[in-house]
Amino acid sequence: MPFLPHPAPPAEAPALRPGEFEAIRHMAHDTFGLDLRTGKEALVSARLSKRVRDLGLPDISHYLDLVQADRTGVELARLIDALTTNFTSFLREPQHFEILSAKVLPALAGRPSFQIWSAGCATGEEPYSILFHVAEALGEQRASAMKLLATDISTRALDAAAAAIYPDQRLREMPPSWPKRYFQRGTGASLGSIRVRPEWRQRVTFQRLNLMEDFSHVSKCSVIFCRNVMIYFDKPTQERLVRRFAERLEPGGWLLIGHSEGLMGIQHGLEYVRPAVYRHPGGAQGGAKRTL
Ligand SMILES: C[S@@+](CC[C@H](N)C(=O)[O-])C[C@H]1O[C@@H](n2cnc3c(N)ncnc32)[C@H](O)[C@@H]1O
Repeated sequence: MPFLPHPAPPAEAPALRPGEFEAIRHMAHDTFGLDLRTGKEALVSARLSKRVRDLGLPDISHYLDLVQADRTGVELARLIDALTTNFTSFLREPQHFEILSAKVLPALAGRPSFQIWSAGCATGEEPYSILFHVAEALGEQRASAMKLLATDISTRALDAAAAAIYPDQRLREMPPSWPKRYFQRGTGASLGSIRVRPEWRQRVTFQRLNLMEDFSHVSKCSVIFCRNVMIYFDKPTQERLVRRFAERLEPGGWLLIGHSEGLMGIQHGLEYVRPAVYRHPGGAQGGAKRTL
């Protein structure tokens, strides 16, 4: 999860009062696993000040009170949105899609059903990239064997993912055959936009899910993508999460993480295959280390 990407806050951001950064830091850690390091005070202040101003509150302390009092979780989701970024792209980290097409999908091709989970799907580019690869590898009909679950903590990101409207420059990220097959081009007021065709959009199940909370209801997965989400979680949080992912993988199932995220020093019980690629031990699809 690239976090607070701007090098400097806007000049008008007020400094945090003593204790405020700690309060935000605890809340962010306890509720969504974010490891806010010391030194980020000015940036946190810049990000939250805008929300404080928009709500007409006198300061960040009042804002934190409001977040805690809001039982709907809506303001907490806004806080998370303010502190994190949903940056993503189609075919980001293409090595994972190469493995998906070359190794994973051939082994799943004969199955009547299987599930792939995009955990931390942001605005949808990741699950749609998965979907289009599955369609290319298995064909449109056989691709319906896949249940594609896409979750994120951010309702704002999920709304954008479900709407699936992107600037048409994003077509440059894709193979030449994809735009016509999978997208509609906007006209009139929507000129310059593209939208995933409805028959493809409806194949993705989008759900809000905080990875810090129980997800034992998620049925067993053949592949879990959780990329660029854990990068700012501390090690104990990462370890707990990867162990819980391992429980949601079927034997031989794959966990794909971001290439800047290592699981070094973490006990998780998965087999290391190559950087950013792990597998649940056992199962008919074993032997990845030998074949990759
Ligand atoms: C940078 S995006 C990564 C998107 C995509 N996986 C990729 O690699 O391009 C990180 C996403 O993780 C989500 N996220 C952060 N903390 C989360 C949590 N505790 N539970 C679920 N999603 C979370 C953010 O809302 C954001 O959309």
